[in-house]
Amino acid sequence: MTGPSVTRGAAGTLAAWLARATERLRSAGVASPRADAEQLAAFALGISRARLVVVDELPPSAAERLDELVARRARREPLQHLTGLAGFRYLDLAVGPGVFIPRPETESVVGWALAALPSVSGGGPVCVDLCAGSGAIALSLAGEVPGARVHAVEVDPAALGWLRRNVAASGLPVTVHEADVTAPPIASLARLAGSVDLVVSNPPYLPDADRDEVEPEVGEHDPPRALWGGADGLDVVRAVVALAARLLRPGGLLAVEHADGHGVAAPGLLRADGRWAEVADHPDLAGRDRFVTGRRRAGAGQRATGEEG
Ligand SMILES: C[S@@+](CC[C@H](N)C(=O)[O-])C[C@H]1O[C@@H](n2cnc3c(N)ncnc32)[C@H](O)[C@@H]1O
Repeated sequence: MTGPSVTRGAAGTLAAWLARATERLRSAGVASPRADAEQLAAFALGISRARLVVVDELPPSAAERLDELVARRARREPLQHLTGLAGFRYLDLAVGPGVFIPRPETESVVGWALAALPSVSGGGPVCVDLCAGSGAIALSLAGEVPGARVHAVEVDPAALGWLRRNVAASGLPVTVHEADVTAPPIASLARLAGSVDLVVSNPPYLPDADRDEVEPEVGEHDPPRALWGGADGLDVVRAVVALAARLLRPGGLLAVEHADGHGVAAPGLLRADGRWAEVADHPDLAGRDRFVTGRRRAGAGQRATGEEG
C-alpha cells in the first residue's frame, strides 16, 4: 500500500492533528468539525479522504499548511473556498469567492427532474437552468441526460466567470446566456419560446429579513445576489415562473427550489398563475419543504403581449 511521502518529524501524527483541528473547528461553531478537518487534511496531502487511514506522521511542512487552512476554516471561510471545489451529484465544480456553493438540497431537485423527464421527452430534451451559478444544475442535466441540449442563464458577472470555467472544463453541451430573468424578454432565449422540455431553477429565495440569521459561511461568503429574494423571498421565484411559462412547450416541466418556509406560497404562485397543471411541492432529504414542480398546461396562453422569452 502506498501513501503520501511522509517524513518523520516534529509535527506529530495525523490522528493527533485531526483531534486538535476538530476541537478547534467545533469551538469556532463549524457544523461538521471532524468531517471538515479530514477533508482539509486530504486536500493538503493530495490524497482522498479514504487514504487518510494510511497516514501516520505528518511532515512538518504539511502540518504548517494544515494549521493555516484550519485557521481560515475556524474564521468560517467555507470549506469549498479552501479546497476550490464543490461536489454536486457526479460533478466536482470549481468554486470560490463570487459564486454560490451548490447545496445537497439542489441535488434532490435535479433527481426529480431526471426521473420526470421521460414523461416529457423521448430523447434529446431541451433544458434550461435559470439562475445557473456555478452550473451545478445545467451541467448535471447535460452530463446525465443523453442528448440533452442545455441552456444556462445567469446575470452576475463573477458567477458567469465560474459558470463559463466549469462549462469549458466539462466539455458538455451547455450554452451560457448572460441575462436577467427578472427583465424579459431575453433576446438570446427568444428562439426557444414554447419549445423547451424542462426548466429547472434554484433562484435566490431567502426573505430579506433573514439577513441576520444565516451562518457566517453564507452571509459573508455566498454572493448576496445568490441569496436574497426580496421582502417575502419570492421576487425572483415569481420571475422564474413567468419566464418558464413562456419558454416551456405544452406538457413541459418546471422545478423551482424555494425556502423551507415557502411550501405553501410557492405552489400557491403556480396555482394562481393558471398556466400550470400537476402542481406539487416536494421535501428535501431532511424532510423540509424544498421545491415546487408543475407541468405547463396546453392552451393556457401568454398572459401579456410582447412576452417572447
Ligand atoms: C441560489 S444561487 C443558485 C446557483 C446554482 N443554480 C446552484 O444551485 O448552485 C442563485 C443564482 O442566481 C443568480 N441570479 C440572481 N438573480 C438573478 C437574475 N435576476 N437573473 C439571473 N440570475 C440571477 C445569482 O447570481 C446566483 O448565481
